[in-house]
Amino acid sequence: MFTLPPLIAKLNNLYLEFIGPIIILGTLGVLLAVIIHYLLIGPHGKELSKLEPEIIRLNFLERLTHFVRMVSTVILAVTGISFALFRPGSLGFDYPVIYNTHLIFAILFTVSSLISIVIWLKDNFFTKYYWQWLKVLGGYLTRKEIHPPAGKFNAGQKIFYWLSSILSIIIIISGVMLAYYDKFILGSLIWAAVLHGICAILLTATIIGHAYLGSVANPGTLGSIFHGKVAREWAKKHHPQWYEKLMQKDKQKNEKKLRLITEN
Ligand code: HEM
Repeated sequence: MFTLPPLIAKLNNLYLEFIGPIIILGTLGVLLAVIIHYLLIGPHGKELSKLEPEIIRLNFLERLTHFVRMVSTVILAVTGISFALFRPGSLGFDYPVIYNTHLIFAILFTVSSLISIVIWLKDNFFTKYYWQWLKVLGGYLTRKEIHPPAGKFNAGQKIFYWLSSILSIIIIISGVMLAYYDKFILGSLIWAAVLHGICAILLTATIIGHAYLGSVANPGTLGSIFHGKVAREWAKKHHPQWYEKLMQKDKQKNEKKLRLITEN
């Protein structure tokens, strides 16, 4: 049977005894909250999913990095949770296979997260209508449809962007320390292991909420991460300020074209 190096065995015990139970409670808590929200409040704007997606929402690079980040996060969560919940050798737990899978997807997660963070930075500064959205919590706690002002991303999405960026960076730095464990003293490694575990739980929990809001809770949204487009009505309702800006840009482009044609 595969035996762990003593230092890694100590850290593995830390996960088994301390971080594992928090993972289960945290993940179940968010899953429960999502189910309760669905039953009590449910999706807003079901008709929006039936409309033709015609407005470009996310470009190719945004979609590619999001896709790699999404897939790598899911695989990292599954392999990471296996470290935290099962002893090597128990339940046929194959440590080297799981460890190597975790490392390969960690590289993909690092590259895609860093690119995502950079390309979405300009869209995630807080704007003047931030408070208006927050005051009604985006209308998510009422059955009545409310559409507070929002730019390309609403205030809730901006908070998620910053939270997921900070957590991703801590996970990446602490992960590198754990991968190169022989270069660090035990005290630093214990900090790295605790931070890695806690931030991974928080990221998993926020992503369950994010995936719910980006799919079931807001029909017509999910397609944007695959084909990049959304319906005109979806944009008007969910991101009115972004839609207005797009229309102004289109109008200016058309006026310029018309001027060029009439001048020639
Ligand atoms: C697990 C399944 C996931 C689903 C179903 C999902 C869905 C979506 C959707 C539909 C959007 C576009 C929203 C819009 O156009 O308004 C989006 C954007 C975004 N996603 Fe995901 N996503 C997932 C995983 C992730 C993960 C793992 C991360 C980060 C580690 C992430 C980070 C983001 C960020 C930062 C944005 C832009 C801001 C925002 O919409 O909140 N997503 N996602």
